[in-house]
Amino acid sequence: MKLGSHTVAGMLGTWQEGPGPAHRRLSDRLRLLVLDGRLTLGSVLPSERDLAAALGTSRTTIGAAYRTLAEHGYLTTRDRARATVRLPDEAPPQPTAHTNAGTIDLSFAAPPAPVEILHAAFAAALQQLPRHFERHGYDRHGVAELRQAVADWHGRRGLPTSPGQIMITNGAQHALSLLTRTLVSPRDKVLIDHPTYPHAIKTLAEARARLVPVAVTSSGWDVEQLHAAGASAAMAYLIPDFHNPTGLCMPTDVRHNLKLTCPTVIDETMTDLALDEPSPEPFALHMPAAVSIGSVSKSIWGGLRIGWIRAAPSLLERIAQARPAMDLGTPVVEQLAAAVLLNKHQTRRPPALQELKTQRNALRRALNDYLPDLHAPQPTGGMTLWATFPAPFTSRLATIAPDHGVIIAAGPRFGIGGAFERNIRLPYTLPPNQLTHAIRRLAAARQALSQGTTGTHRPAPIA
Ligand SMILES: Cc1ncc(COP(=O)(O)O)c(C=O)c1O
Repeated sequence: MKLGSHTVAGMLGTWQEGPGPAHRRLSDRLRLLVLDGRLTLGSVLPSERDLAAALGTSRTTIGAAYRTLAEHGYLTTRDRARATVRLPDEAPPQPTAHTNAGTIDLSFAAPPAPVEILHAAFAAALQQLPRHFERHGYDRHGVAELRQAVADWHGRRGLPTSPGQIMITNGAQHALSLLTRTLVSPRDKVLIDHPTYPHAIKTLAEARARLVPVAVTSSGWDVEQLHAAGASAAMAYLIPDFHNPTGLCMPTDVRHNLKLTCPTVIDETMTDLALDEPSPEPFALHMPAAVSIGSVSKSIWGGLRIGWIRAAPSLLERIAQARPAMDLGTPVVEQLAAAVLLNKHQTRRPPALQELKTQRNALRRALNDYLPDLHAPQPTGGMTLWATFPAPFTSRLATIAPDHGVIIAAGPRFGIGGAFERNIRLPYTLPPNQLTHAIRRLAAARQALSQGTTGTHRPAPIA
């Protein structure tokens, strides 16, 4: 995919700021974009001249940055051909901090497994498994037990659902990929929250959709803007329930007033993580045509890789037709275990929610103590804070944070065009003492940044 100079300039954001020569800052920022997946492998970068013009800098700076990246295996450059993004043949050198077992990873917002509960569910699943041995085990819609359990989960939330409206997937991310394949063609517009979940951006960008971002501000969603953006969109993707990354929950009146005419995919991955108020009403109660996706990844464990789509049977049939190009179904034992967990109502476990609250409080206390100018509103659910610094530097902070023993996800991962350089997402899925250590280390990294220290680290993956 050929990238225009203004697109790349937007992704680069505030690369001009900071210590060191300009070509080094530029190559560091481009490398960060490659490693965290915002610059997709195989993307063709603008010519030196075009990028220099878009960035208001010299061709020499761009040439030097491209050469550095090529030397380290991040670009292919050939005479006259445009530079193409690649990865080094060898895995990029692991910085010492990453190999240090004491590094705290704040880039994942996902809970550890509830061990005993999972053991019991798998023991029960293994007893049921022989029932399935007579069949081939490939089921594009999922096993009947889990489709019924997911339908009942929706029913308990007040949304009557039949198993025929459910397709089981390998997580909510897979559900979104299947829907994108089915509903979106290259150059279609897709409405997204801004900020939003980074892997959704990646899925939609790889489908060559044109993303239409609508701001989710501290006061939430704006119905008029959503209507305006949705009018010409082929699909909308929204996370109204404890939105990732802001933690905001769309109020009932907004749900009620929102009348999108395009196919609307509602990500309910976080809906069971209500901490201070009852879980929100299912979005589809207000917009019956909405397609909901969900999973047990945040409410139980991501390693199960079990999710679902709730949609009209006709749409599920279209997805089922297309599905074999991606995969041939979801593993049966995991499905049976997930059915046991859902039937026992284990997606809303009061002790687990209490633990999340305690962790959220510990994180906020640590922020108060060590980073008092970081503005971090308290979400009423979910597992992340969306925090704002007074100045834009979080890509640089993410680059040097591993030197100080902590890995963070910088704000621009959650947006397009280099937005959110003042933000970071902070999950509260670790024990309180680790969260406190992590924030102390982050404060040290921030101080080093203002004193001009730089590092050369690869950003971590993200969930
Ligand atoms: C909003 C949102 N949707 C989807 C996913 C992916 O979930 P799963 O592990 O079920 O694929 C995540 C994971 O972080 C998420 O936060």
